[in-house]
Amino acid sequence: MTLWGGRFSTKLNEQAWDLNSSLPVDQRMAVQDVDGSIAWANALHKANILSDEEHVSISLGLATVKKEFASGQFSFAPADEDIHTAVERRLTEIIGPLAGKLHTGRSRNDQVATDFRLWMLQTIPQLDSAFKNLQSALVKQAELAGETLMPGYTHLQRAQPILLSHWWLSHYWPLQRDRERLTDLVARVSILPLGSGALAGTPVPVDRAALAESLGFAVASPNSLDSVSDRDFAAEFLFCATMTGIHLSKLSEQIVLYTSAEFSFFELSDAFSTGSSLMPQKKNPDVFELTRGKAGTLIGMLTGLLATLKGLPSTYDKDLQEDKAPVFQATDTLLAILPVIAGALRTITVKPQRMRNAIDSFMMATDLADYLVSKGIPFRETHAIAGKAVRVAGEKNVGLEELSLEAYQALCPAFEADVYQVFDPMKSVEKRNAIGGTSLQSVKMQIAKCKMQNSK
Ligand code: ARG
Repeated sequence: MTLWGGRFSTKLNEQAWDLNSSLPVDQRMAVQDVDGSIAWANALHKANILSDEEHVSISLGLATVKKEFASGQFSFAPADEDIHTAVERRLTEIIGPLAGKLHTGRSRNDQVATDFRLWMLQTIPQLDSAFKNLQSALVKQAELAGETLMPGYTHLQRAQPILLSHWWLSHYWPLQRDRERLTDLVARVSILPLGSGALAGTPVPVDRAALAESLGFAVASPNSLDSVSDRDFAAEFLFCATMTGIHLSKLSEQIVLYTSAEFSFFELSDAFSTGSSLMPQKKNPDVFELTRGKAGTLIGMLTGLLATLKGLPSTYDKDLQEDKAPVFQATDTLLAILPVIAGALRTITVKPQRMRNAIDSFMMATDLADYLVSKGIPFRETHAIAGKAVRVAGEKNVGLEELSLEAYQALCPAFEADVYQVFDPMKSVEKRNAIGGTSLQSVKMQIAKCKMQNSK
């Protein structure tokens, strides 16, 4: 059974049928499709299109279909072109030709957009808890890190000492923005297309505001032409997913680097690393590499959908059928990587001594400049003096802490014996005490904030 065909004299070519069919993808929205139909049947009843008896019969039939999906007993027929056809075909089997009344004043165009939005509204909270789980792994590590110091980098060159806890939390906040982005998106997903018909609106006198409310949507769409083709929410969702992919890729890149023998800041647990078929000694960070790799695929899905949307004329075009696969795939990608990254980070071993050893006195050159600022010299000058100290130490092949007081005083008479305190990395960290800095107190405040957010 197809939902069309009256005007056709021959059957659709078999390969064209396969190309046209969307069932393999859209059967994932089976429950949403039935829920939309139940709500539409209620609206038709209120509008006196369905009698009390017909309404009961259709509702019971749809409840049976829903149960069949829930229990995995629903079987698709070869002629089911899409999920909408499958549901209506099955309803017809259960209650007979009366099922045909359900499609009054409705089109698959407003139906599919409704299903898709409903699906997304239900998926966003699922993603949100996967995000929260990873965030809590990061906060836990930040708490465990205590006073552990590590080198902070810019341009991948040693820059300034930081607390390991501060570094962990630097990966918390991007995920917080991702969560907020997804939550903000809900407002634009929660707009009901049902009741827009194919494009021009429905002739059925339905109360679309009530219909929206009954399906859990905030509002009914204000323009039917826009409503059947609006896939902004899908593109935005893919952007959100892609941004997360990029954040996780950045984290992954650092873990890959920091677990290498050259850094050895961390060691992955055996449960989250893989071996080599050839080299027995290998312990590879595959899960992080895959995460980094999947970020590229996510970017492709986003740009793919944007390219599909570009240049479409107004209202529904079949190109739009391409919208669901990338959104589903992006969701599956995030739901696959978020818990694995969380698990890998929860079980990672930190090597504080390796981190500490990687902090050299040159990383306190800024503090050396700041030291002279505290003696009243303008920063621009102190920067140059500290730079000269770096050069002199470099030429002598020693650390800044190994230059004699005379050598310092030759560069600037304001240097005194207390200059050597500057080379304590913890002192450097502790000075960065303003909101957002790496001091113990600032990080403690961050942790408290994170915990508060994460409990929501
Ligand atoms: N399978 C279609 C989609 O995913 C459903 C809408 C079909 N509409 C139509 N006029 N053929 O977009």
